[in-house]
Amino acid sequence: MTESARSGGNSYLLAEAFAKGARESGHTVNIFHSGQNRMSGCLFCGGCWSSGKPCVIEDNFDKLWPLLKQADMLVFCSPLYWYNFSGHIKNAMDRLFPYSQKNKPRDLKIKEVMLLVCGESWFKKSFAGPAESYRQMPGYKGWKDRGRIFVAGVYDTAKLPGTVL
Ligand SMILES: Cc1cc2nc3c(=O)[nH]c(=O)nc-3n(C[C@H](O)[C@H](O)[C@H](O)COP(=O)(O)O)c2cc1C
Repeated sequence: MTESARSGGNSYLLAEAFAKGARESGHTVNIFHSGQNRMSGCLFCGGCWSSGKPCVIEDNFDKLWPLLKQADMLVFCSPLYWYNFSGHIKNAMDRLFPYSQKNKPRDLKIKEVMLLVCGESWFKKSFAGPAESYRQMPGYKGWKDRGRIFVAGVYDTAKLPGTVL
């Protein structure tokens, strides 16, 4: 799941590079660009599954959840926006709510997660927001953390590689 509001942007390149390596290692990878498939945030209406689908809101989440259903691993890939995840990917993350409740009617088979973030800043502390949010998710969901990559010093499009922190 990547952000990529800018086509060909750094988060797009980061996701593509990760996917290329994973495919070369024999994995099947689907990339969902939340910046180009924008969706509403979770309304906390509690209507999950009432329509037979995980969410009652009809938007681009309808393209995401069939991919989520198949996935063994979820990789979040975002640019830093105000020291955090971009709003586009955050909305998509919040739409995982139907699978996150303690008494959830259905869960995902995801077992592992990974975090990729790029940003203009050269400082590791600038990446602390998404790092901390991500740190707590695997514990809550029982997912195994497979690592984080922070690419620093990238601003204009197609400027990867920056420096990996
Ligand atoms: C609204 C907005 C907020 C941003 N906030 C930060 C920030 O807090 N820290 C940072 O290092 N870069 C920040 N940036 C720069 C982007 O993280 C950087 O340009 C990144 O490469 C954009 O990803 P993209 O190429 O996939 O669009 C911001 C960019 C935008 C548009």
